[in-house]
Amino acid sequence: MLLLRCAVGSREGTKRKRGHMASAVIVGAQWGDEGKGKIVDFLAGQADFVVRFQGGDNAGHTVYLGDRKYVFHILPSGMLRPGVTCVIGSGVVLNLRRLADEISEVGISEQDITARLRISGETALILPCHMARDRSEESSRGKGRIGTTQRGIGPAYVDVANRTAVRMADTLDEDWFRKRLAICLESKRDSLEGSEFSEACDFEKTASETLRLARRFAPLVCDASALLEEARAKGKNLLFEGAQGTMLDVHAGTYPYVTSSNTVAGGACVGSGVGPRAIGRILGVAKAYTTRVGEGPFPTELIGETGERLRETGGEYGATTRRPRRCGWLDIVQLRRAVRLNSLDGIVLTKLDVLDGFDRIGVCTAYRVKGRCMTEWPVNPADLESVEPEIEFMPGWLAATSCAGGYDALPAAARNYVEAVEKWLGVPVAMVTAGKERDDIIVRQPVF
Ligand code: GDP
Ligand code: IMO
Ligand code: MG
Repeated sequence: MLLLRCAVGSREGTKRKRGHMASAVIVGAQWGDEGKGKIVDFLAGQADFVVRFQGGDNAGHTVYLGDRKYVFHILPSGMLRPGVTCVIGSGVVLNLRRLADEISEVGISEQDITARLRISGETALILPCHMARDRSEESSRGKGRIGTTQRGIGPAYVDVANRTAVRMADTLDEDWFRKRLAICLESKRDSLEGSEFSEACDFEKTASETLRLARRFAPLVCDASALLEEARAKGKNLLFEGAQGTMLDVHAGTYPYVTSSNTVAGGACVGSGVGPRAIGRILGVAKAYTTRVGEGPFPTELIGETGERLRETGGEYGATTRRPRRCGWLDIVQLRRAVRLNSLDGIVLTKLDVLDGFDRIGVCTAYRVKGRCMTEWPVNPADLESVEPEIEFMPGWLAATSCAGGYDALPAAARNYVEAVEKWLGVPVAMVTAGKERDDIIVRQPVF
């Protein structure tokens, strides 16, 4: 088993600043899978804390290091950086069984977990009843299905809003926990059928399994808000790791085809227990094209040969469910919305290398709905069914991009593409990636 304390450090790992606290939020600017994991792992080389603030194990954040591939679902993507404290924030919904499995799959020592992982006491738990409910709701939706990851995410957040959730801190006292669990399970009685209910909502089974796992993680339970405030006071660097993407936000996304949490940068505050003034820079990660997994509107989706080519070249298969991702050109209308919703200071443009072989590259700069030109996301959801993207084509570079020589060594047409995106969005492209490895990155504006 590989012990992560021995993980190879990159050049970035040695550049920690001391005495001047900085913080940054990393969010997905599209529909998820933009490459957030790689960016968080890279920036964690200069951070002291990495905080996951929403979502659950529906996320799949990929990091390549040396000859190994790591996929983080619930552990923050700072786990490969020795010395970084990783926090599962109060906005997350946490499946303890999956956490335990992920720790052994990734190969993190118990000593490392004790030293470096913290869980907010306010984090709500995903229980077997939530997964059963996710499955049963999806199957009863039929054609109107959302295409959830079936990890119980939506039902767990329903319990949070309904005040029937069991939270991590509830497990610290067995009598208290049993009372909370009874309330939680009782609230499912009317929504799951006979045998499905009795299996997924079995009180003793759920109680014993949850308590067994919770006892293992009890020493990690903390007041995350106080922990992060103390870190701030000591001048530590904080990194907030978003999951999913802006267009999957439960309010601002393509509702109802969304996840059940606030994926936008504002979610970093409520989901980790820091106030808005604790947030420094905000970066949105966007692919150089667009993908989406699951159902729902996708204005620039390419059905056919070009979409297929993007999928195969980009290896666009889900990191959590292995489902093929739907692919399309970059959507400026959508990204402008992401810039606004997140107050983005900049974009991290990923997977530029996937476009290497295209002789022309499409970018959507406006939508056409019933003959009308629109430059904003339609208010009326019915309009999304007939939206047609207006595509401008830019010349491709037909050469292999590499990050090794820095920004100026990129092919001129690739730089042209990056700078056109900046102009359209009105914010800088702070980083560019053209390869999956940790060092395949060009930093144009440092974060810390
Ligand atoms: P996340 O959920 O936002 O962390 O993204 P995923 O890990 O689900 O999907 C991003 C995929 O793109 C992963 O397989 C990454 O290894 C890969 N990736 C990230 N950056 C690059 C890049 O610049 N080039 C290529 N070819 N792959 C990349
Ligand atoms: P990362 O963090 C892409 C999608 C699902 C579905 C919808 C609701 O890796 O970018 P849920 O299980 O959350 O109730 O499903 O959201 N979805 C994601 N799509 N990347 C993700 O995470 C996603 N997490 C959920 O496919 O359409
Ligand atoms: Mg992913």
